[in-house]
Amino acid sequence: PQTLVEAVAARIPARRRLAAKLSTLHAKRVVHQMTVENVMGGMRGMPSIMWEISETHPTGVRYHGKTLDELEAALPKWPGSAQISPESLLWYLYTASIPSRAELMHFTADLMRRCQLPKEIEDFMDSLPTTLLPLTHMQMAYSALSKYSKLAAAVDNGAPKANLWTFALEDALDITSRSILVISRIHNKFYGQGNGRKPRIDMSADLAKNLAICMGRGDDFTFIELTRLAWVLHQDHGANVSAHTMRLVSSALGDPYSAISAGITAGTGALHAMAIENSLNYNKKMVASLGLHPSSAEIETYILNDIKAGAVLPGYGHAVLRVADPRLAWVRRFIKQYPVPPPVDGKTPTTSLDLIQRMHNIVPDLIRTHLPKVKNPAPNVDALSGSTMLAYGVEADFILLFMANGRGMGFLSQSVWDKVLALPIERPQSITMDKLLAKL
Ligand code: MLT
Repeated sequence: PQTLVEAVAARIPARRRLAAKLSTLHAKRVVHQMTVENVMGGMRGMPSIMWEISETHPTGVRYHGKTLDELEAALPKWPGSAQISPESLLWYLYTASIPSRAELMHFTADLMRRCQLPKEIEDFMDSLPTTLLPLTHMQMAYSALSKYSKLAAAVDNGAPKANLWTFALEDALDITSRSILVISRIHNKFYGQGNGRKPRIDMSADLAKNLAICMGRGDDFTFIELTRLAWVLHQDHGANVSAHTMRLVSSALGDPYSAISAGITAGTGALHAMAIENSLNYNKKMVASLGLHPSSAEIETYILNDIKAGAVLPGYGHAVLRVADPRLAWVRRFIKQYPVPPPVDGKTPTTSLDLIQRMHNIVPDLIRTHLPKVKNPAPNVDALSGSTMLAYGVEADFILLFMANGRGMGFLSQSVWDKVLALPIERPQSITMDKLLAKL
């Protein structure tokens, strides 16, 4: 079997040739007529960011041209798992080729060998107060880890530009591996397994299983499967806010740890990843007000009141998608496949997956009627993923850490290709409204 480095290296000459051709032979060809709407609308609809690993279509994301359904059939799964393996998908994002079972096993073993945190980082993490949010702990841990970036050291030492990708890849794999120690350490601090609990890594298991072991849930198969799914679904969705933020940092030769830290910060916006948590809270409020089994008319009235009050309905609409997010179907399928565990201590549940899924059938029509300007009233993955994780025992304030981890590992594959192709610093031209008007 090939190593990941060999597989990436094998793809480099052809992709560099293509990049050179585009930037020289075709450099002045017009790709898109930029409109005032593009400028005023947050660059929406402008095909202007070169993204090697995927393309987000109005109907869903394609990874190197393939849908998740196609990849499910093609990618090897981790032994015993029914989900796409996050490591398999990662290999594919990095290389555009389907790994063999042996390559998946070797790649995962390489990740597990990298799984350690420097002592000073552990001490730093342990010193942070639990009055801060778990996500803040994660963001700060990555900022602190930037000191250990191999890419940053290579840049400082004047490594040739053509070789920077090898250091970026080293960092990417270190981060992907270390991430489970970062998350589990924070989790143990917040939820009772105790500070500094010594993680025992199972070298023959994958990242998700090892995260579960480190969190004290190593025997919880459903949780491990859900973790795999969450990392796969969030790994990449093109130049969304968190990925674009990481790309921006990394385009200025910011190190990958700092880029991840910035990406986590970017995810805290209500219009981006925070929608996952907000949609869960929305459901909680609805259950508190209407109970677990309201009639469809009650649901409609409740939502309509919010629409009329101008409230954001978290998890509905999308900047690019124009149909229901295909990733949502994956979460629905998971809920069908794995029975939701009963609430702890037999307490009445505070959220309802059933109610959320009923909402998915009701909200789009309400939006179409009352907010006709909304281009896509359909639910996206955020409308179900958070509540699902909560239902399977992930604490509400930890859900975003799982999303951030998936997004981080996926983006790192793109960041390696940014270095391979020597993509320049991102620096769009800013323009005032008066200047814009003067151009018309
Ligand atoms: C995502 O996966 O980040 C969201 O669907 C948002 C986006 O793609 O813009």
